[in-house]
Amino acid sequence: MERVRAVVLAAGKGKRMQSDLPKVLHLLCGRPLVTYVLDVLTEAAIERPLLVIGHAADSVRAALGERAVFIEQHEQLGTGHAVMQALPHLGPAGGPVLVLYGDTPLLSAGTITALVDLHRNSRSDATMLTAALDDPTGYGRVIRGPGGSVERIVEEADASPEEARLREINAGTYVFEAEALREALAQLRPDNVQGEYYLTDTIAWLLGAGRRVSALLVAAEEAMGINSRRELAAAGQIMRARLLDRLMDAGVTVVDPATTYVHAGVRAGRDTVIHPQSYLEGETVIGRECVIGPQARLVDAVLGDRVTVEASTVVKSAVGEGTRIGPYSRLRPGSRIGRFVEIGNYAEIKNATIGDHTKVHHMSYIGDATLGTRVNIGAGTVTCNYDGKRKHVTVIEDEAFIGSDSMLIAPVRIGRGAVTGAGSVVNKDVPPGGVAVGVPARVIKHVSADVAR
Ligand code: UD1
Ligand code: CA
Repeated sequence: MERVRAVVLAAGKGKRMQSDLPKVLHLLCGRPLVTYVLDVLTEAAIERPLLVIGHAADSVRAALGERAVFIEQHEQLGTGHAVMQALPHLGPAGGPVLVLYGDTPLLSAGTITALVDLHRNSRSDATMLTAALDDPTGYGRVIRGPGGSVERIVEEADASPEEARLREINAGTYVFEAEALREALAQLRPDNVQGEYYLTDTIAWLLGAGRRVSALLVAAEEAMGINSRRELAAAGQIMRARLLDRLMDAGVTVVDPATTYVHAGVRAGRDTVIHPQSYLEGETVIGRECVIGPQARLVDAVLGDRVTVEASTVVKSAVGEGTRIGPYSRLRPGSRIGRFVEIGNYAEIKNATIGDHTKVHHMSYIGDATLGTRVNIGAGTVTCNYDGKRKHVTVIEDEAFIGSDSMLIAPVRIGRGAVTGAGSVVNKDVPPGGVAVGVPARVIKHVSADVAR
């Protein structure tokens, strides 16, 4: 079987988005619109597509890297003109060419495969995807002849009132035989209301030339094209429901799907429970038997098994097995939290490493710090990491006991098993097993190294 090559159109500005960002880079469940089309191609085993770019080409290229072969359409003269730019890169070889639009993120791989199969089995020159919509506004309408077969596509701007009333629309996904595509594109003229080269006009031309055209009807949802922010939001809702279904099918309890927001990159283990009003974003990975929320926000977080995060935010941080976070805590980027740690109410952690079984409860700030195992941080402790010019590091060794309201002026090291008194301002290192109190803190007890151990 000849391999299927794919062309994805993504050169348009997306005027109707009213945006400085090119339309195909707008985010849907955390990922650029066009990446959904690329993912579906990968899933359907179609290799690296040609991607036609134009508007903000550099940012599209930067966002997609190696995922496509980029072709520039310098002026956006229509979807037919966009495909013309890809022709030289398809070479003289025959075989099926799949053409898709970069703004249809809800297409499934199964539909792509079904379309290609129909194209092959019916030995068609072109096979198009259609859908019946309750509200077809904005789409090209499919005109069928008396026998029910497709005759042509008419764009809404060019449609008569009767044509505009038709509910079957062109989904904008097609398979063409390469040579039929080449011939049909050569015939296109921009003689329409928008003055564009419409890819859609190839259908009527091919039929007129005695070629065979087939059509596959799919569920309305899959055909959705994103032209406006409203459509982006509507598609987001559908995609989110799909992602949540996938989590639930894999053994995750989602207590209230209506208030659980999940990005495409999120993974979660079996028997994890996600409570309402939670936001799982970016490439977050959650282990098994975790309890997330209510009101958790995880962004690019990596959680081990049996972690609890209640009403707290975890951003770009890793959390070990059995650790409990919140309610009302914030983990900022670069935090590495060990196993069975407790991070309590109103704690802020930034760029810190925290050892196993350590406790940071009640209104503490731990930034640019390394904490050992079984450390106890008293209420209101602050690592004073910033001297107005630079950030400095605090080290708190295993089993140290930091009294409530201690101010640790970095750079500073609290030795293993050392104690700081409540309200002390520690601006010098405290030796292992030592006790320091006061403002600034004085060491009032030294312990020899082996006693400290
Ligand atoms: C298009 C179809 C319409 C169909 C709908 C499905 C045409 C003429 N119309 O309309 O029949 O119902 O999609 O969603 O094809 N693009 C380029 N270069 C251009 C113009 C567009 O690359 O010069 C890209 C856009 O970036 C976009 C895609 O092609 O990803 C579709 O263009 P868009 O303007 O959104 O077409 P629609 O008006 O939605
Ligand atoms: Ca569109």
